[in-house]
Amino acid sequence: MPGAQTLVLSMPEPDVALLTFDTPNKSANVLSASVLEELDGHLDALEQRDDIAGLIICSGKPGMFIAGADLREFVASLDIEKEQIVQMCRRGQTLFGRLAKCNFVTIAAIDGICVGGGAELAIWCDRRLMSNGPKTEFGFPEVKLGLFPGWGGTARAPRMVGLGNAVEMITGGESVNAETARLMNLASDVVAPDQLISAAISLIRHEQSSGDYKKDRECWSQPLSISETELGFLGATASAVIKGQTKGHYPAPEAALEVMLEAASTDVEAACEMEAEGMAELFGSTVNASLLNVFFLTDRNKKGTGIDRVDGVELKPAAVKSIGIIGAGIMGAGIAAANIRRGVSVVIDDASKETLRESAQSILEEAAYDRELKGPDGHRVAELASSLDLCMVDQEFAACDVVIEAVVENLDVKRQVFARIEPQLRDTAILASNTSTIPITTIAKNVKHPERFCGIHFFNPVRRMKLVEIIRGEKTSDETVMTAVAYTKRIGKMPIVLNDGPGFLINRLLFPYMSEALALLSEGAKIKDIDRAAKAFGMPMGPIELYDLVGIDTATFAGQTMSDAFPERIVASPILPAMVKAGRLGKKSGLGFFNYENKRKRAAPDPGLDAFLSEYIEGDRAFARDELTDRLFMPMLLEATRALEDNIVRDPRDIDLGLIFGLGFPPFKGGLMFWADRVGARTLVEKLKPLESVGVRMRPTQLLQEMADSGKTFYPE
Ligand code: NAI
Repeated sequence: MPGAQTLVLSMPEPDVALLTFDTPNKSANVLSASVLEELDGHLDALEQRDDIAGLIICSGKPGMFIAGADLREFVASLDIEKEQIVQMCRRGQTLFGRLAKCNFVTIAAIDGICVGGGAELAIWCDRRLMSNGPKTEFGFPEVKLGLFPGWGGTARAPRMVGLGNAVEMITGGESVNAETARLMNLASDVVAPDQLISAAISLIRHEQSSGDYKKDRECWSQPLSISETELGFLGATASAVIKGQTKGHYPAPEAALEVMLEAASTDVEAACEMEAEGMAELFGSTVNASLLNVFFLTDRNKKGTGIDRVDGVELKPAAVKSIGIIGAGIMGAGIAAANIRRGVSVVIDDASKETLRESAQSILEEAAYDRELKGPDGHRVAELASSLDLCMVDQEFAACDVVIEAVVENLDVKRQVFARIEPQLRDTAILASNTSTIPITTIAKNVKHPERFCGIHFFNPVRRMKLVEIIRGEKTSDETVMTAVAYTKRIGKMPIVLNDGPGFLINRLLFPYMSEALALLSEGAKIKDIDRAAKAFGMPMGPIELYDLVGIDTATFAGQTMSDAFPERIVASPILPAMVKAGRLGKKSGLGFFNYENKRKRAAPDPGLDAFLSEYIEGDRAFARDELTDRLFMPMLLEATRALEDNIVRDPRDIDLGLIFGLGFPPFKGGLMFWADRVGARTLVEKLKPLESVGVRMRPTQLLQEMADSGKTFYPE
């Protein structure tokens, strides 16, 4: 409905204006250019009148005040000139600034999400009232997009809530709830959602008679009263915290801090100018573009159904209320906890009744984990107990909508499990395997209903890893895929749908990178240099340390599967089997490439490692950082292009989402394929030329070569 109005003006009382934000046909209110224009027009009209005592701004959407600026407009203008960025900020500041200048009291009546540009609009009002509704939050998440608030947030917030609070909110990007907002003077009061408007009218009456808002207007336009010493201390401590968190990869929090510190001694108008100038340095930067991409990857994933229908037949996912799990080891227990926590009841079985009994308590405790308590909530444990059923007889699986197998990684054992369980299930139930390496079609070979069989591959630890790979076997139906996608979303995960193939997607991309690290080690590169190169690229840890975390035995097994599948490019290193033989299993055994036998179980160098590795090290030349980076990441990229060629993955954006949420690929690079597009296929092919002598694994794939020749990008233009 183009041109439909978002803002509606009404008069709940003759001298009280109410502007209601309600974007037609959308679940969220966003501040697009046209909405800002509407606001401007309403303020023009209201300021002409002399019969208005107060203006209340609210939302017509319960639980949603304003979600922020229109990010699609941001993406469309990423390459504008700095001068235009400054103007864009100044326009927003001037518009919202009117709310702190007009000849009536302005009040934001907030129920639900009030973040980003929405929080800026609200913070320019004289007062904010918040509802105690469960969705109410107030925050400046701009740093998560590589920006800081640019419509006056950095100028106004420190003057209203104090510099310390403002620095924490703006550089951290986390929202506060209504009660915290009240305690920091951000909200005048917290009331029930249906009381917001009447409370706002009372507040207008009170402000009119006391005139307090006028005093605050004057005070909030002045420099902050803070001593040089306090300022220096706050700056130093906040900067240290930020550096620890960003590791130098995300410039926005540090830039926000600088602007707020510098502007502390100026009036609010000068602070707004500094803010706009500062924003011009961030807006459109690579980090900003990359983080916007991650936002849209996540948004796309939320909306996707997992299938692309071309025949126009409407399909619906089946409801999943109860699931069965076979295997109560690390993964089975983790999957059980994730389900119970989100209200899906679980029947769980294990060949070892002792393991099954022992797992029950840890499943419930994990499901009832409370972040604030930093441990399980006892009441929740008791409440959730009725959702967990330790299986006594196979018939108990008859009521399950989905049954997930998480037994040992052995084809015969898995097939036996499915042969035993399938006859117990009802006609609509889905069978799934959590295998990390065995092809789904192979496991499904003897099942009666391969159309209702798929892979649902969770990552370890399940409670922290959002990614889930949904794998289509040859005969898996669209309905099965759709149900698996909707079900995993319901328990808070991000599913990507893949076609069957060795290592599916994430392990397939991980192993070329991991095995290249071992090849570099054999050629004489130092462990610390290899790991540092990966971390400097932005990975949360280096590949050698990752071997220790995964477990050398597990990595050997999975690596063998990958090198059996792709012998020409994944060369099994003799280092791993030798380590397994020597009992160097990684973190779990206290010794791997690193030593973990210290108080904090952190990776520390092992003095005996050089002697142990000596017979496998063939070279001793020095490697430049760039060479190490190219050697590690080009194999990952080439494998990603092969996964696209082989139709394992439907869209390059699934690769990026998968790597970011499954492997910790750096969000500030926007994803592997997004990064590749920015580097450019031609440059990537050039980078591969000097690596030709390393082996065929470094040859450009057909897809990469085509991209280089045609100048196309992986992402749709
Ligand atoms: P685990 O060894 O911790 O647990 C396996 C459980 O299966 C054991 O409790 C065992 O008693 C039980 N079991 C064995 N045969 C059984 C049978 N016939 N019927 C019932 N229970 C039986 O193994 P983990 O790590 O939980 O792995 C399970 C599956 O998940 C494997 O396919 C593995 O490849 C996959 N996976 C593992 C990940 C990891 O990081 N550990 C990550 C993703 C997938």
